Amino acid sequence: MKNVFITGGAGYIGSHCAISLFKNGYNPIILDNFSNSRSSVIKNLEIITDKKITFYDVDIRDKKKLISIFKKISCYAVIHCAGLKSVAESIRRPIDYFDNNIGSTLSLLECMRKSNVFKLIFSSSATVYDNNQLLPLKETNKTGNIKNPYGNTKYIIERILMDLVKSDYRWSIRIARYFNPISNHSSGLIKENPKGIPNNLIPCIIKVAQKKLPILKVFGKNYKTKDGTGVRDYIHVMDLADGHVAMIKNNRLKKGLKIYNFGTGKGSSVLEVIRSFEKHTGILISFKFTKRRTGDVAESFCSANKAIKELNWKYRYDLKQAMIDIKKIL
Ligand code: NAD
Ligand code: UFG
Repeated sequence: MKNVFITGGAGYIGSHCAISLFKNGYNPIILDNFSNSRSSVIKNLEIITDKKITFYDVDIRDKKKLISIFKKISCYAVIHCAGLKSVAESIRRPIDYFDNNIGSTLSLLECMRKSNVFKLIFSSSATVYDNNQLLPLKETNKTGNIKNPYGNTKYIIERILMDLVKSDYRWSIRIARYFNPISNHSSGLIKENPKGIPNNLIPCIIKVAQKKLPILKVFGKNYKTKDGTGVRDYIHVMDLADGHVAMIKNNRLKKGLKIYNFGTGKGSSVLEVIRSFEKHTGILISFKFTKRRTGDVAESFCSANKAIKELNWKYRYDLKQAMIDIKKIL
């Protein structure tokens, strides 16, 4: 069984990737400092997969510790999910974001090179696209012009990776640009579980459903969209996880750098998401309209045709299924 390291593997996306890797005959090795996750995730992954999970409590900026792990365990490829991800927090603490996200990537790249591991998948984001473009967004669309430190860390890391493959032909790098990952494994045992106050739509809806938040604020009602609220491309996290495996399997990690969008290609508005949640969970969500959130775009959705064609991947779960799975964690 080939070992695939997942940095940030105890987090939301990394933990779902671990399931998908097992399902496809790979052995995930989790590397995480648990700054935004809990060690109980490991136990729950073991219940879901019925396998022993190897994990290391490590800050991947710690090169000494990281390289010792690469020495101990042979590594086929790395999925690099570790990073801080709150846009709002990044505006308050830009240095921490640059240090953690870019610092950890540089540390990882150096340890990989020293260990002769050259296959890397990087968790990037739709946030790298320049906003003023026709939809759907394609991988060839313009990037940059980003308005917050979090997005800039993703953009800068992408540039670093692009320079790296030009300077050293041994690297196989895949940049996965996630649109809006939602939902959870159908067992309900693992989920998006940020430690601080959530910012994203679904975690906020869940908090309202669980009566941990009194009301959902809907940011803006006069966008030029189907119903005036923001439109996003919501992708089930298990589809996203399968996308990572699709980049790895069938010896697809050939040398060079490739970029893939991961989304459904369909946009849903905030009101549609609320209605779908209500319909499929049976829980009503009280909400009020407030002013637009700074930095939000009206609409964002992608073309995932490149992943569909080149990786033989396609999304399987729609918004309805995402909500049915969310019901399991309520
Ligand atoms: P998450 O916070 O749930 O997971 C990230 C994990 O990385 C956490 O478990 C955290 O403890 C760990 N981590 C952070 N810094 C670390 C370090 N220096 N060393 C070791 N571990 C560290 O976030 P997620 O939603 O799973 O996101 C994973 C990646 O995908 C992130 O890079 C994020 O920016 C990117 N991304 C996420 C979304 C989204 O909506 N969830 C969208 C686009 C891109
Ligand atoms: N929204 C609300 N109320 C909330 C939270 C969100 O109305 O309490 C709305 C937003 O205004 C937006 C939509 O719900 O229209 C989705 O918002 P999210 O915060 O869930 O997602 P974003 O698209 O804003 O952000 C996501 C990732 C970021 C990434 C960004 C751009 O979470 O990390 O996409 O790619 F930077």
